[in-house]
Amino acid sequence: MIQPASMIIGTGSCAPDKVLTNSDLEKMVDTSDEWIKERTGIERRHILETEKTNSDLGACAAERAIEDAGLKAKDIDCILVATITPDSFFPSTACGVQAKIGAKDAAAMDVSAACSGFLYGMTLADALIRSGQYRNVLVIGSEVLSRFTDWEDRTTCVLFGDGAGAAVMTESDGTRGLLSSFIKSDGRLGRLLYLPGGGSTHPATHETVDQHLHTIRMEGREVFKHAVRTMVDAAVHGLEKGEVHSDDIDLLITHQANMRIIDAVRERLKLPEEKVFINLQEFGNTSAASIPLALDQARREGRIRPGDKVLLVAFGGGFTWASGVVQF
Ligand code: ACO
Repeated sequence: MIQPASMIIGTGSCAPDKVLTNSDLEKMVDTSDEWIKERTGIERRHILETEKTNSDLGACAAERAIEDAGLKAKDIDCILVATITPDSFFPSTACGVQAKIGAKDAAAMDVSAACSGFLYGMTLADALIRSGQYRNVLVIGSEVLSRFTDWEDRTTCVLFGDGAGAAVMTESDGTRGLLSSFIKSDGRLGRLLYLPGGGSTHPATHETVDQHLHTIRMEGREVFKHAVRTMVDAAVHGLEKGEVHSDDIDLLITHQANMRIIDAVRERLKLPEEKVFINLQEFGNTSAASIPLALDQARREGRIRPGDKVLLVAFGGGFTWASGVVQF
């Protein structure tokens, strides 16, 4: 039996109030509610108000997670923010969150692994706790994808939304916690899903703006195929490492990218529909925020009970893929 080093003691999430429905999108690009629902399962997505930033959303989710954990901000030793839509290149979004929640004794840094970012963050948090370096680590996934979406490109703009989720991890009490985590990457697949402009390769110029280089580019069909393959790979490795059989999983929470991808993964893992948590109809694909948003919602709706084993699985740009088996 695996002895976990760390456990989740609190979760929180935050979504902007403003909602963009599929019918709203019908007025912006050549698409239809029917096409979007049938091909993706998405019905609406939340969009951050212009005056707010990624770290505002992250701080909101963080405060809810800290409260849920029964802690105060000053108890947090380290803040990891998984994001591909930071407030700015530097300082990190994690430093922005730190200032907003008043976690004055914490170290803070960002993690960049696209949609797998939250599970990368959980893996790092577990290692930091396991090594004795820190006691309470706050892991956040927070994204404002709406600001990096090409609203004239119907092949991508229907997919993404904004949101944040967070978890407080601390030393395991020996009975529950992270039984395993698995993270992997393949940088050769980077160009299937990326944001070309704004970095040192293509710094912002009038031309990069004219060419829409500051928005997400994606080869949808190719991403779809790799997503199913990599998520199944991550799930199988995570279950093996955690010494857990898929029959013993009480709930599967995958990255919320597309209903057809989630169905394909569920079928390959031979899990029944009722063991899968889905909220993409409400939020769309929120990249690194997707798993912690779903995890928090599932906990608050009573879908996760004490003793349950939850399998978390993600894939994202990079390519990156990851899993975690958590005993609650
Ligand atoms: N509305 C209406 N028609 C559309 C739209 C739209 N929004 N988008 C594309 N189409 C059309 C295409 O032009 C094409 O038309 P054609 O047959 O006349 O050429 C047709 O619909 C089919 O297009 P496909 O791309 O083959 O559609 P597909 O069934 O593959 O669905 C989708 C597209 C939803 C993007 C799918 O490929 C997918 O989900 N891929 C994975 C994407 C993903 O998960 N990305 C996020 C990764 S996470 C991260 O790291 C950010």
